[in-house]
Amino acid sequence: MSSPNDSEIFNPSPEVLEQANVPEYEAMYDYSITNREGFWADQAETLSWFKKWDTVLDESNAPFYKWFDGGSINIVQNAIDRHLGNANRNKMAIIWEGENGQVRNYSYNGLNREVCQFANTLKSMGVNKGDIVTIYMPQIPELIFAMLACAKIGAIHSVVYGGFSTEALASRIDDAQSRVLITADGGWRRGRQIDLKSIANEAMKRTPSIEVCICVKNNELDVEMEPARDFWLHDLKALPIASSKCETEQTSAEDPLFILYTSGTTGKPKGMLHTHGGYAVYTSTTHRMAFDIKPQDRWWCAADPGWITGHSYIVYGPLINGATIMLYEGAPNYPYPNRWWQIVEKYGINILYTSPTAIRGLMRFGDRWPQKHDLSSLRLLGSVGEPINPEAWRWYHQVIGNNKCPIIDTWWQTETGGFMVCPLPITPLKPGSATKPFFGNEISIVDDDGSEVPAGEEGKLIIKNPWPGMARTIFKDDQRYADLYWSKRDNIWCYLAGDSAKKDEDGYIWVIGRMDEVLKVSGYRLGTAEIESALVSHPQVNEAAAIGLPHELKGNAIHTYVILKQGQTGSLELELELKEHVSKELGKIATPEAVAFVDSLPKTRSGKIMRRVLKARALGQDEGDLSTLEE
Ligand code: WTA
Repeated sequence: MSSPNDSEIFNPSPEVLEQANVPEYEAMYDYSITNREGFWADQAETLSWFKKWDTVLDESNAPFYKWFDGGSINIVQNAIDRHLGNANRNKMAIIWEGENGQVRNYSYNGLNREVCQFANTLKSMGVNKGDIVTIYMPQIPELIFAMLACAKIGAIHSVVYGGFSTEALASRIDDAQSRVLITADGGWRRGRQIDLKSIANEAMKRTPSIEVCICVKNNELDVEMEPARDFWLHDLKALPIASSKCETEQTSAEDPLFILYTSGTTGKPKGMLHTHGGYAVYTSTTHRMAFDIKPQDRWWCAADPGWITGHSYIVYGPLINGATIMLYEGAPNYPYPNRWWQIVEKYGINILYTSPTAIRGLMRFGDRWPQKHDLSSLRLLGSVGEPINPEAWRWYHQVIGNNKCPIIDTWWQTETGGFMVCPLPITPLKPGSATKPFFGNEISIVDDDGSEVPAGEEGKLIIKNPWPGMARTIFKDDQRYADLYWSKRDNIWCYLAGDSAKKDEDGYIWVIGRMDEVLKVSGYRLGTAEIESALVSHPQVNEAAAIGLPHELKGNAIHTYVILKQGQTGSLELELELKEHVSKELGKIATPEAVAFVDSLPKTRSGKIMRRVLKARALGQDEGDLSTLEE
């Protein structure tokens, strides 16, 4: 991969400039900084509130900020209910295509019916406002119905990505102490049925809190259902109680909407908590402005709803904006590498938002696959999850976007809820840079002492203000939230993102990557701690370390170092077994690329593994400061 060049600039075309929702950046940005609360109040005014807020931003207990406090709003009132009284009622809300070619469509009215039925079903199972429901599903419409049904009745959803496995699911259920789990018999991938229910069954054995499991039928797997605990959704929906009318709960702006677990610096995943009000304002505003959303748009965010990208930009932002969303369950190159381009052509997709890994993966099949299709409906393209390398950027721009679609490279995190650094369609683009801060955000690159570094130098990315989409806390761990993310510099609370970045002479931000023990593998966020603990749960392993090393397709690949228990010896067979073990415990996405058997690991005197040293050694680089290394 070549390194980015900050003088390569792509200017927007006259057509893009002509139809831009936001025709000018600088003046609006200045306004959003000097009058942050006014800017966000203007955006909040575009939503439907049961009761307006008393204060836009309450900073009295910083860094525990409150947005739109005193207001009453339910995100579902905005994502569905308010569309039912206008022209959106019969507009397509969701187009879903399954891998085997099956298609299902839902209008906003149809979506409402499904969500009401699901919400009534949850109520009949004793789910109340404030209860946490865990959802573990493939990419099918019912996953979206389940999320919205929870939100509608004021319950909190905790979605666990369907590609995760037993231990990942069990630990998340356990942390949330969910009483209800919503899952499916299975999903489809490359023509094969993926069994989810038996993973769910195994997870339920490891954690005692689940009393009710609602299962959606999605394929033909013969699954084990435990009487009095497990119920088929279609059976429940047939009961009179599951009527298609359900009042939307009047939640407060600061009431929790969901928890999403994400990997952090150490230990177990953190349940990032987001709320109804600020999150609705932030996701809809960022989506509308950065992607120039028009009423007729067909929007395809090809992520999984199980990650933050899916929460914010498959489900909530686009539905609040009344867009038509595309959802596809299956592999991008199944049965052939033109599957995605076929979908773009068939449904007339206007905006495609995906990850650099997916772009690189499709790019390797060559230009002839996309060139077989009419992709002229595309107006904008987006990228997220990891830095995009300029080759992939240019290919996306030329071959997919026919040189006319701006590439909206969005930098953000599970914690931020929505885009923090991204261009608008009118922004001159530099391949590999997410460009400038989104409105309301002041972003600096600082050194270890918190002083701003000169242009072109690498440092830590910090955000010097609160924003409505920010996570409010780590579930059950306020202290950890405050300690991990926030610190005061010059009397201003600053959010530390955990990424290193540079700012160039033009103020463009170039994100380099994580500085902590978080790995981005194919755009998926994993923690070294989770991978290491999965390895150590194998009976022959004593100790393990995981690092990420550069990989052409995946961005990073997982490399692991293992110390075996006394008397055990490493072998190719054991290496394969350990890879399989991690895949079974955590999920396929966490499977190590390599397992090296070692006698010792570099550690600090206090016993912390120095992954930085392992990485430098693997890359043949300077090992840096070794003064804290144990003798
Ligand atoms: C990385 C995903 C460069 C970054 C939305 C961040 C990016 C982490 C970009 C969060 C981008 C995300 N350019 N890096 N456009 N977008 N990242 O929580 O390291 O799964 O800290 O949220 O992804 O990952 P998460």
